[in-house]
Amino acid sequence: MYRSRIIGTGHFLPEDKITNQDLEKMVDTNDQWIVERTGISARRKAKPEHGTSDLALFASKKALEAANLSAKDLDMIIFATITPDYTMPSTSCMLQQKLEASKCVSFDLGAACSGFVYGLSVADQFIKTGAKKNILVVGAEVLTRYVDYTDRGTCILFGDGAGAAVVSRNEDESDTAEFYSHHLYSDGHLSDLLTLKAGGSVLPVTYEVLEQRENFVKMNGREIFKHAVRAMSKCSSEALEANKISLDDISWIIPHQANTRIIEATAKHLGASMDKVVVEIEDMGNTSAATVAVALDKAVRDGRIQKGQNILLTAFGAGLTSGSLLFKY
Ligand code: UT7
Repeated sequence: MYRSRIIGTGHFLPEDKITNQDLEKMVDTNDQWIVERTGISARRKAKPEHGTSDLALFASKKALEAANLSAKDLDMIIFATITPDYTMPSTSCMLQQKLEASKCVSFDLGAACSGFVYGLSVADQFIKTGAKKNILVVGAEVLTRYVDYTDRGTCILFGDGAGAAVVSRNEDESDTAEFYSHHLYSDGHLSDLLTLKAGGSVLPVTYEVLEQRENFVKMNGREIFKHAVRAMSKCSSEALEANKISLDDISWIIPHQANTRIIEATAKHLGASMDKVVVEIEDMGNTSAATVAVALDKAVRDGRIQKGQNILLTAFGAGLTSGSLLFKY
């Protein structure tokens, strides 16, 4: 079995912002409520000419540069998103074309906000077995095109962004970096709590479907909140137990950035100090599959994450899906 390691990360957040003050003009809400209940002040909005693969391209180029690899070195692209460029072809193929990653296989992965953690886990399997050497894992979304700006329960949360990581076979005996474990879960019984239904085979886009606003994200926020805390703390605890690693030996926890209160409650359940939790939600909002990838890259680039540290990722999303990934950087 080979060891996997992350050798480069990158992210891209569009410059344009939707601030709490902007939202005050659209729905019955206010800056104080949003900040206190979510920790979010602004979300990013992609330029009209950009689709999800464009945001992913910007993030991927940075990740490849950090990894000191060319797109031609990639064996695989795993693209996690719930906001694909098109239903067909896959967004991973659009990215492959834009990157000119000629020799790789690429596919999309649908696990909503848990998608990046799922993607890293899948990459690890291909690397461990020796089947692939260099895999680009991307989490990217243009959620502002699917947000109902008349629904104050969701429009305050979601934004656009992309993050990417290059996962490679670690052939350097002196480098201790490796993926220790992943614990992934899904519970389809609770699928109705968070949906985006229009455009699929069950609800093709019709006037009726648009009238019912099924082309927008719908969420039972209170229920999702409870499940998010439970699920992320459960799979994080499992990661620690499975590897006999204590919280003291973890340098950074990077949870899905959905809501600061969810992050704080998860840390409390785990018994972790917020000092070792990466929180990057204030200026980007919830970017679904991109949140963990963006937060990871920010923490790498500003020096919080250092070689040799143990890092715990955990995510939760529609499905319901959840997962954790523990690795040495
Ligand atoms: O990434 C995928 C997973 N998504 C998430 O993890 C999001 C999970 N959910 C949440 O983050 C939170 O549930 C929300 C931020 C969506 C809502 O916060 P909450 O603390 O759960 O609020 P709530 O839904 O329990 O509503 C509390 C009150 C209600 O008024 P009453 O019934 O107490 O009079 C709401 O009508 O706040 C009201 N409210 C608002 N007020 C001002 C709901 N949304 C807003 C708003 N502005 N935007």
